[in-house]
Amino acid sequence: MIWLIGNKGMLGSDVGYFLKETHKDYIASDIEVDITDLEELKRFISDKKIDWIINCSAYTAVDKAEDEPGKAFKINAEGALNIAKIAREKEAKLIHISTDYVFDGEKNGSYTEDDDPNPMGVYGKSKLEGERNIQNIIEKYFILRTAWLYGKNGNNFVYTMLRLFKEKEVVKVVSDQWGTPTHTKDLAGTIIKIIQDKSDKYGIYHFTNEGRTNWYEFAKEIYERAKKHKLIKKNINIIPITTEEYPTKAVRPKNTYMSKEKIKSSFGLNIRDWGNSLEEFLMDI
Ligand SMILES: NC(=O)c1ccc[n+]([C@@H]2O[C@H](COP(=O)([O-])OP(=O)(O)OC[C@H]3O[C@@H](n4cnc5c(N)ncnc54)[C@H](OP(=O)(O)O)[C@@H]3O)[C@@H](O)[C@H]2O)c1
Repeated sequence: MIWLIGNKGMLGSDVGYFLKETHKDYIASDIEVDITDLEELKRFISDKKIDWIINCSAYTAVDKAEDEPGKAFKINAEGALNIAKIAREKEAKLIHISTDYVFDGEKNGSYTEDDDPNPMGVYGKSKLEGERNIQNIIEKYFILRTAWLYGKNGNNFVYTMLRLFKEKEVVKVVSDQWGTPTHTKDLAGTIIKIIQDKSDKYGIYHFTNEGRTNWYEFAKEIYERAKKHKLIKKNINIIPITTEEYPTKAVRPKNTYMSKEKIKSSFGLNIRDWGNSLEEFLMDI
């Protein structure tokens, strides 16, 4: 049986959507089964045979984490450790989601799984500790680092832009942070593929959509495609700005473009270009 943790989140809800079709007998939980409480986790699955655990739950408020590091570490580091303990006890394989923010963003070119992490902020540090907690106590894990996620059921950059395009005439967006937008549906599909393959190619993997862009170019693409589909009617002036002109509580890495070679060759994946996935997302909503 599969246990999906974090099924009400943005990624988790898409994973649940696919699981309904592929593995009808999966079980799911979210905030009502607190991952920071090991006993609660144990109680929830005490009598169940679990083969796979998918952890999509996390503390994901990057800026807020700077003000509440205790909470971020409790959920992202201790919570991940608790889930790994359950995986060990149940002899289940664990698919855990991590982030590009484990990197400092100073590398030129793409980050591979062999690059040393060096997170800049509390969120990235707490997620890295979560990865290491898992690696320290189990071997049967897949840690998928992803980036710039957007999906139907959650707050994300695409929804923010669509709202701003309705409210304003001028929208300023940072153009000096580089990475790859990722549709939750594509990552969810990859998670299902790993399970269907009954894979034992454990380890850390990078997964985003294909291509590389910055937030300004991403915003322009959302605008142009939304206009084409008549989601917005008026003209918007989108202006590129620097990170210095848009200060945030948490320092963002400048470049988190990640290589997908390892995940593509391990699982025979054909990953969609970020523009094509964005197009499908806009059509869906
Ligand atoms: N969003 C991105 O751009 C992005 C980028 C890179 C990596 N990631 C990673 O991708 C994964 C999925 O992200 P997402 O954006 O889908 O996250 P999300 O929408 O914030 O969903 C996370 C879910 O976990 C739940 N949760 C929080 N604390 C919990 C706890 N103590 N016990 C049980 N459940 C708890 C949340 O409930 P509440 O909402 O009630 O707190 C929420 O339903 C995360 O591991 C994240 O770090 C995300």
